[in-house]
Amino acid sequence: MLKVVFKIPLLVLLVLLVLLVEGQGLDGQLSGIGKQFNVSIILPGSPQYAAVTQPFNLRFNFNPAAVAFPTHAQEISAIVKLANRVNYQVVARSGGHSYVANGLGGKNGVIVVDLRSFQKVEVDDRAGTAVIEMGTRLGDIVTSLAAHGRALPHGTCAYVGIGGHATYGGYGFTSRLWGLTIDAVLSFDVVLANGTVTTASSKVNPDLFWAMRGAGGSFGIATAITVKTFLAPPTATIFSYNWQFTAAGAADALGAFQTFGLTANLPGEIAAEIVITRGNAQGNVTIGLAGGWYRPVSQLNVTLKPFLDRMPPPRTITFDTGDYLHSAINLAGGSLDTSAPPGTDTFYAKSLMTPQSVPMTQKALLSLMNVIANEGFTTPVGWFFQVELFGGKNSAINAVKREETSFGHRDTLFTIQFYASAPGNRPPYPRSGFTFLDNVVNSVVNAMPTDWPYGTYVNYVDDRLDDWQKRYYGSNYARLRRLKGTYDPRGLFSFPTSIQV
Ligand SMILES: Cc1cc2nc3c(=O)[nH]c(=O)nc-3n(C[C@H](O)[C@H](O)[C@H](O)COP(=O)(O)OP(=O)(O)OC[C@H]3O[C@@H](n4cnc5c(N)ncnc54)[C@H](O)[C@@H]3O)c2cc1C
Ligand SMILES: *[C@@H]1O[C@H](CO)[C@@H](O)[C@H](O)[C@H]1NC(C)=O
Ligand SMILES: *[C@@H]1O[C@H](CO)[C@@H](O)[C@H](O)[C@H]1NC(C)=O
Ligand SMILES: *[C@@H]1O[C@H](CO)[C@@H](O)[C@H](O)[C@H]1NC(C)=O
Ligand SMILES: *[C@@H]1O[C@H](CO)[C@@H](O)[C@H](O)[C@H]1NC(C)=O
Repeated sequence: MLKVVFKIPLLVLLVLLVLLVEGQGLDGQLSGIGKQFNVSIILPGSPQYAAVTQPFNLRFNFNPAAVAFPTHAQEISAIVKLANRVNYQVVARSGGHSYVANGLGGKNGVIVVDLRSFQKVEVDDRAGTAVIEMGTRLGDIVTSLAAHGRALPHGTCAYVGIGGHATYGGYGFTSRLWGLTIDAVLSFDVVLANGTVTTASSKVNPDLFWAMRGAGGSFGIATAITVKTFLAPPTATIFSYNWQFTAAGAADALGAFQTFGLTANLPGEIAAEIVITRGNAQGNVTIGLAGGWYRPVSQLNVTLKPFLDRMPPPRTITFDTGDYLHSAINLAGGSLDTSAPPGTDTFYAKSLMTPQSVPMTQKALLSLMNVIANEGFTTPVGWFFQVELFGGKNSAINAVKREETSFGHRDTLFTIQFYASAPGNRPPYPRSGFTFLDNVVNSVVNAMPTDWPYGTYVNYVDDRLDDWQKRYYGSNYARLRRLKGTYDPRGLFSFPTSIQV
């Protein structure tokens, strides 16, 4: 019975869609824009369609209505206005590295505005600022800024786009020193849902500026940002330590790291994370300490001492000291070059942002490590977990007030990423990969008080998170909804985790 009830509107909708596309002619109208502005537009049926709609995460396979490659904001404005007329939704894609293919709309039938023609980086040496077009990849930003002795806080992977980074967060090893990428943004050039081309800064459209820094994709298509840049440190060290533990030993190690993060007098110049990987036997866990140090290497050991004093001798240690550019190359896996096509993966990821005010208990740490040491050993998925130190003393991330940007969390101690790939990094993603990550996260959450005020990181976006509004945005969500009503009342920018109208 239910099936029939749902089938009728779906059929009607399909017929309407077909009429729209064939009759009134989305294709025809888009082609009109394509010719008027000389914008390349790829439609289903084009030989290039498969290539331009391939997501980074092959767990998804969405069919956009069209993929447009504009070169100017005015062309994006025309596409947005057309989409309003024909009642289609629009989405921006920059680096295409969304975990859930939100850059393709996160569903079928969306018009994708691909920003790959927006890749300029212009540095103003005198002002210490830079204008970065939003289709630029992080690797190219590092090299462009380093040529001027400057740098920006952001993640490590060269192929990730500044588009998703500067609108949703952007964490990297210099974030305790300089903040998230969104914290460096001074203004956005943005195309609004009604096609208006405008800017957003603390002076112009301050509400929009607030919303763009944490939930940008729901409010507009940014074509460029102006950022403050930072003096690239003359010396930087990327380090790693590695241990093998039983579950209980691993829980103690993470507990020691938590105490270190909470109590040590850490300068902003240190980045540190615990990397958890499969143990070398069932019941064991491999624990790494990885990090960056942006002061002379001679002061690193004394900074790590409070943690290392509580740890047994490591199995391996690596130190790599050089200039800032050298450290960025190391973190990118040896190269910042983005000329070859980006790779792909087939994966699922979850996250936990642990509040500094309520650290994980020993019980929670032990239940976490028990799941990891056992199910983590037998699971068919390839996985790694990263416990990233966002907080601690002198963290620039937490120096920003919670109300200052729409990013939901300014009191986080750890952002933990749980990432698991399908065997061979190819589809299908096994069901047991979902249950493994659910069990791992639940092992912590269920061991903590029911009102534990944890969050999740919006750039490790999770398509299976029911209470994402609360977990991504916390108390900022209510204001985001009000502003969505102002800037995009018809929901032109709608995807699974967009701010609801
Ligand atoms: C391999 C890999 C490594 C990563 N490492 C890190 C890391 O170290 N630190 C970290 O913080 N994150 C990291 N991430 C997560 C990354 O920050 C997010 O996936 C980010 O959103 C990707 O941005 P993008 O432009 O490449 O993606 P896209 O898929 O193009 O876009 C992501 C989202 O942002 C929106 N968007 C993109 N461009 C614009 C724009 N111009 N205007 C408005 N909205 C826009 C899209 O619509 C979409 O919703 C990593 C991801 C991957 C896959
Ligand atoms: C249109 O763009 C293509 C490349 O995108 C270029 O080769 C061509 O010269 C352009 N035509 C006009 C009329 O600008
Ligand atoms: C598991 O870890 C413990 C603690 O480090 C170690 O003594 C033991 O040898 C490990 N088991 C294997 C098979 O490596
Ligand atoms: C720091 O510690 C490492 C590992 O114990 C050691 O190899 C290195 O010599 C130390 N560096 C300094 C400057 O003391
Ligand atoms: C477009 O939307 C903005 C933000 O709501 C508004 O200020 C502007 O007046 C609108 N422009 C038009 C032409 O409706």
